[in-house]
Amino acid sequence: MTTSLPPVPYFDWDNRYPDWTEQVVAAVREVAESDEFILKSRVAALETAVRERTGARHAVAVASGTGALTVILAALGLGEGDEVVTPAFSFISTASTVALRGARPVFADVDPDTACLDLAAAEAAVTRHTRAVLPAYLFTTHPDMTGLAELARRHGIALVEDSAVGLGATVDGRPAGRFGRAGVYSFFPAKPIGGAGDAGMIVTDDDDLARDMRMLRNHGQDLGVRFLHHTVGFNCRMDEITAAFLLQRLPHLDEFLNARRRIAEEYQERLAHLAPDVLTPPDGYRDRAVYTYVVRARRRDELKEFLAGEGIETVVYYPKPLHLQPAFAHLGHQEGDFPVAERISREALALPLHPDMRPGDVARVAAAVERFYRRSR
Ligand SMILES: Cc1ncc(COP(=O)(O)O)c(C=O)c1O
Repeated sequence: MTTSLPPVPYFDWDNRYPDWTEQVVAAVREVAESDEFILKSRVAALETAVRERTGARHAVAVASGTGALTVILAALGLGEGDEVVTPAFSFISTASTVALRGARPVFADVDPDTACLDLAAAEAAVTRHTRAVLPAYLFTTHPDMTGLAELARRHGIALVEDSAVGLGATVDGRPAGRFGRAGVYSFFPAKPIGGAGDAGMIVTDDDDLARDMRMLRNHGQDLGVRFLHHTVGFNCRMDEITAAFLLQRLPHLDEFLNARRRIAEEYQERLAHLAPDVLTPPDGYRDRAVYTYVVRARRRDELKEFLAGEGIETVVYYPKPLHLQPAFAHLGHQEGDFPVAERISREALALPLHPDMRPGDVARVAAAVERFYRRSR
């Protein structure tokens, strides 16, 4: 390290939200002193809280965001021979959950500004085998959800919203997760509303789908009769400790998001003038959920190394687009198939962002980024 200043960690687990430890301990104690452990009253209360927050008819608590997608795709009856149009650049779950059904993820390129599924590319990828379109929210941005909802309606296919990182965002006046047949939220610890472990939630207005998903998350078991299984399901249940903890945190969602939005806005102000060396995400954070602050940077790997030398930790989300992942080699893609996704994988860099960043940290990160490009011009 070439600096005597304290490091700027990417995510400061030692200095996270106030009361975190007390809330975890309180949740454990509360459940330990009860006789409820899995899918009981606290899980039901969390489902109610998410329903109220999002306006959904149903919220179905599950074990993770990935579990949420898995359960939705199973409830939709997706399987071999079916195709799902999905972005070439996202977290693995967006496509792996499709592949695990035996269906084919059909990748489409992403929009260069949002890094999310491009509407025209999605349209071009639809075939007579397409059963669903599965876009993802990423970082601080979202796809053209209104356009994708219209595409799904026109083609008579399901829109499944991977809004794992979108809880609390509104898009065109509608809550994230509420555009299609079903949407998901993840409570992975680093998310704006993070649990103290894995957890997820599904929202839908579809009564039949909700009933099927409630069964599927619990081994396909009848909702009233124990050990009667209507279908082959999963163990994808949420536990009461997780729900008790999340019930304490959910009321603070806007507070957490606003703190993150302020940090993103400060980065934006301080970095915008570095274009085209550094491209910041699109402006306008008011309604967006800020999960990670990802810029596109020329000579990204050198910049990352330079920042590390300055004590600033950064993360690459995601270094390889989905179509080039070994896990999807069987789909036969090659470099050049989705040029925007590939370019973003080479340029994306997430700068430190968490609500309890010390005053001056954003300025310090931005100044270091500026120094890197000035020095090397
Ligand atoms: C876009 C996206 N989809 C799905 C997931 C999966 O959520 P989980 O980690 O809760 O399984 C994530 C989590 O990082 C994500 O970022």
